[in-house]
Amino acid sequence: MKVLIATEKPFAKVAVDGIRQEVEAAGYELALLEKYTDKEQLLDAVENVDAIIIRSDIIDEQVLDAAKELKIVVRAGAGYDNVDLEAATAHQVCVMNTPGQNSNAVAELAFGMMVMAVRNFYDGKAGTELKGKKLGIHAYGNVGRNVARIAKGFGMEIYAYDAYCPKDVMEKDGVIPLDSVQALYETCQIVSLHIPATPETKNSIDYDLVNRMPKNGVLVNTARKEVINEVDLLRLMHDRPDLKYVTDIMPVHHEEFASHYPGRYFSTPKKMGAQTAEANINAGIAAACQIVDFFQNGCEKFRVNKK
Ligand code: 3PG
Repeated sequence: MKVLIATEKPFAKVAVDGIRQEVEAAGYELALLEKYTDKEQLLDAVENVDAIIIRSDIIDEQVLDAAKELKIVVRAGAGYDNVDLEAATAHQVCVMNTPGQNSNAVAELAFGMMVMAVRNFYDGKAGTELKGKKLGIHAYGNVGRNVARIAKGFGMEIYAYDAYCPKDVMEKDGVIPLDSVQALYETCQIVSLHIPATPETKNSIDYDLVNRMPKNGVLVNTARKEVINEVDLLRLMHDRPDLKYVTDIMPVHHEEFASHYPGRYFSTPKKMGAQTAEANINAGIAAACQIVDFFQNGCEKFRVNKK
């Protein structure tokens, strides 16, 4: 068996070492393709592999066609919008993710960005504190729950909206569940996004929704750029000079945000939420173990595509 790590944005070395240990202990071979700059390199690398570990790397029909021996792709992370699930099913390839493994790292970055925003991007002027502020968690999954845990330490009032999460789960965590997404944005001065990119959520964070935020609202995006209606948000930031937008996923319209709204907008150059040694180790080794379990025991516990 040959397992390929294909990461345009590499894992920390310590995580690659850990993956290698798991793969080689099972008697498999490990191949590494890091920091590739064009798709041809990926197409070449997948040719004779049985399994692939990826991050946000795109696995589409073309890649699946090129990977003649492929049986399993594991996305070391939560969101799998970068994998064509239907094409994978058609190619009889199992797709898995590693839910929860990098969620603390993402949640911590959300707070780093929040503090930076309320302290005016460290420009020397008096900012505000997070303590006592109303925080809205948009989607209460693994990252949302970690955000709630950390927010308690900051002394924030915590609200959440998640159509799929039972209210008592939130209440047990000391989080106030709200009945609608509109209510979340109307209530909270800071909203942290933790929704996946799906056909339903794409472009859903629009003018009307964000405009409901109270004065001095801060929108924090460590989720996906696709969920933001960027044209709407640019227009709203023009109409509402009190709003700030901080994001870990560089918008398509980054130049416009940066040039029109300096001091109210920030983007990391490359998605950094899960870019910690701990998250890389957790998600990478989980991916390796899931591959071994798949081949040795037929385990498909974390499968996300149809058979
Ligand atoms: C995820 O979906 O797990 C996060 O967005 C992390 O993505 P990355 O592995 O590409 O940094």
